[in-house]
Amino acid sequence: MATELLSGKVAVSATINGEPTDWLCEPRETLLEVLRGRLGLTGSKEGCGNGNCGACAVMMDGRLVNACCVLGVEAQESEITTVEGIGGPEGLTPLQRCFLEEASLQCGFCTPGFLVAATALLDRNPDPSEEEIRWWLAGNLCRCTGYDKILLAVQRAAAEIRGINMQSVVSPQEITQVMESRTLRLGERPIPFERYLELTGENDDIELVNGVMVENMATQYDHERLFGWFYLLLGSYVGRRGLGVVLGSRTAVRINEFGGRLPDLLFVRRERLDIIQQKAITGAPDLVIEIVSPNDRPSDIIGLETDYRSIGVAEIAFIDRGKGRVRLLRKRGETYEEEEVRSGPFRFETVEGFRLEAEGVLNDALPDEFAILDGLLAQGKSAQP
Ligand code: FES
Ligand code: FES
Repeated sequence: MATELLSGKVAVSATINGEPTDWLCEPRETLLEVLRGRLGLTGSKEGCGNGNCGACAVMMDGRLVNACCVLGVEAQESEITTVEGIGGPEGLTPLQRCFLEEASLQCGFCTPGFLVAATALLDRNPDPSEEEIRWWLAGNLCRCTGYDKILLAVQRAAAEIRGINMQSVVSPQEITQVMESRTLRLGERPIPFERYLELTGENDDIELVNGVMVENMATQYDHERLFGWFYLLLGSYVGRRGLGVVLGSRTAVRINEFGGRLPDLLFVRRERLDIIQQKAITGAPDLVIEIVSPNDRPSDIIGLETDYRSIGVAEIAFIDRGKGRVRLLRKRGETYEEEEVRSGPFRFETVEGFRLEAEGVLNDALPDEFAILDGLLAQGKSAQP
């Protein structure tokens, strides 16, 4: 039991990172304040101070706790493990090394909490599913990065702990399925674009993101229906007017040496058809259309937009029924101009004469594509001199 002294302070004894440790603290001081202010263990960070961010996570008697929500006196006779206790520069744990190798951090403020929380998870379960990892880390917030790299680091570390050396997984036959609905293909990494084309058959729905092959989630019926509708309408329109080619989600667009995307739909003008090679498109399509699904995460969409912008796609359209909007990004010199349409007409600037009503693509009942096609073609004719 902690002993209260005449000074009003309390004498506390506990084991911290394997070392018997004694300290004096005020009864109202948090464990986080004790660790950082009295014991010099500044690895645990104070992000919010009220149990929301997980930056201060430590293990207490094997349980994951937020040190900002535990009083220093409550630690009496407990065993505490902080981030300093789970490995150091001379002996990184697999998890720490994977965080480094996957660059799973930016400012690093949240990283100690993620490391402690993920360590606690892997101690219990060295083979967690993606969902389990996401749930387990849901109490840890990172303000400056996406969570994908953190997830990847935890998965890689888990595999290493189970004796699978992902670095040695080299052949397509040894592809490791590590998630239920999304597959990371790990092995020789980063995978260059040319190698990615070799590894993926024509029918694969796999993108190359930062040198990692990522299988897209299975599309949902709603997505497929809208895709089919667009493909037929836009493809027929472009074909009938001889404007170029419309392709759908099978043809990889080269983003850079380690990146390749499969837009839902893309359009290349007739004058630029030479960018379409047998295996891939090695230039910026004039238009890409992405149909946003409910299971697309914001970080996925940002990643797509960033990649398309980086190669200079002239027009990028996100059809987002969930948010009830069509987002159009149009290249203007070095930057992009953005238009958001929730109702009324919108057009693809790169496809001459092609206009649609936003309600048509955002509402559940899709209008008859042949009637729209006839209307568009008739308008084109009447506009001709
Ligand atoms: S500082 Fe403890 S949860 Fe945020
Ligand atoms: S890396 Fe900065 S908050 Fe997570």
